[in-house]
Amino acid sequence: MNKKKLVLVPGDGIGVEVTEAAVDVLKAMFDDAGYELETETYLIGGASLDAFDTPIKDDVIAACKSADAVLLGAVGGPKWDNLPAHKRPEQALLKLRKELGLYNNLRPVKVYPSLTSASTLREEVVSGVDLLVVRELTGGLYFGKPKEVTPHPESDGERAVDTMLYHTFEIERIVRAAFDAAGKRRKKLTSVDKANILATSQLWRKTVERIAPEYPDIEVDHMLGDNCAMQLVRNPKQFDVIVTENMFGDILSDEAAMLTGSIGMLPSASLGDGTAMYEPVHGSAPDIAGQLIANPLATISSVAMMLRFSLDLPEMADKLENAVEEVLAEGYRCADLTQGAQKIVGTKEMAELIKSKVISAKSVAST
Ligand code: IPM
Ligand code: MG
Repeated sequence: MNKKKLVLVPGDGIGVEVTEAAVDVLKAMFDDAGYELETETYLIGGASLDAFDTPIKDDVIAACKSADAVLLGAVGGPKWDNLPAHKRPEQALLKLRKELGLYNNLRPVKVYPSLTSASTLREEVVSGVDLLVVRELTGGLYFGKPKEVTPHPESDGERAVDTMLYHTFEIERIVRAAFDAAGKRRKKLTSVDKANILATSQLWRKTVERIAPEYPDIEVDHMLGDNCAMQLVRNPKQFDVIVTENMFGDILSDEAAMLTGSIGMLPSASLGDGTAMYEPVHGSAPDIAGQLIANPLATISSVAMMLRFSLDLPEMADKLENAVEEVLAEGYRCADLTQGAQKIVGTKEMAELIKSKVISAKSVAST
C-alpha cells in the first residue's frame, strides 16, 4: 500500500490556516485512493520563538530530513520584527533551505483564463502567461560571508556588508535543473544576471554558455536583471523558463506573481538531493490571520507540486491542478481576488470546493 510521511511546519499567521486547508484536501485524496498519510506538525518561525526562544529547533530539521516531503505555510509577523538578525522568524526558512540542501526553487506563474481580469495589468498582456521562475536558493547574498554590521568609528557610524558569492558547482546544478525544466515545457530558457557589473554574474553567464551545448533543443538567451523586471510587465508571454540567482529570483518572482492577479495563487517547490519542501510564495499576512479568509489555493497548488515531485503521484497532481482551475472557472474566489468576483468564500469553503472535485462520487456519498 502507498504510505507517505509528511512533516508540516505551518509557521505563523495565515500559514497555519492555509496549511490545514491544504492537508485536509490531501488527506481526503489519500483516503479516497486507499493510501495512508502520516503527518507530524512542528512549530517554526515566530511560533517557535514564542515557545522555545529559537526560530527552529534541531529536532525539527531532523524530522524534515526523514520525511517524504515538507509542507511549509509562512513565517514572520510584526511581533518578531525587532529581534536581532539571528532570532528573526525568517531564519527558520533559511536554515531549512540550507540544511535540506534545497538549491532549486521552482515558482510557476500561470495566469488562469478565469483570472485574466484580476491582474492590475491589461488582459491582453497577461492572458496566456505560463512561465516558471527557477530561483537558486542556497547561495548568493542570502548566505555569503561576511555578513555583518560593525561599528565604523572613522565615519562616526556603522558599516554593513553582505557578500554575494557563487561557486561554479552551485551555478552548474541550478542551470542544469532549469535546462531540464525547459525541456519539459516550451524549450526556452532565459538566464537572468547582471553580468555588466557583477563578478558572480560573469561566472554565471560563462557557466550557462558552457552548459548550453549539452541541450541543443533548448533556446537560451541572457537578460540583465533590470531589463527582465521591465520585460515581465511589458511582455511576459516572451518567457518560458527564467533561471536566476537567489536575490534576483526573490524579487522577480514577486513581480511575476502579480501577473496572476494575486500572490495568493502562487505555489513553489524547493528541491535538492534529499527531502523537498513545498510552500506558497505568499507570506504570513498578519493583517488577515486567524479570520479564515486567506486563499489556500497557493498551498493547495504547492501540494500538487509535492504529489508530482516527491510523492510520485503525478495523476493525483493533475487532478488537483484541474480542480483548482475548475473551481476558479466556476467563479469562486477568496478575499484576495474580490475584483469582479461573484462568489467569495473563506479558506475552509475553498478547500471543501476543491475536495468535492478531487474525490470520487462514491466516497462523497459515503461520508
Ligand atoms: C521568499 C521570501 C523569503 C525570501 C523570506 C521570507 C526570507 O520572500 O520565499 O521569497 O526572501 O526568500
Ligand atoms: Mg520573496
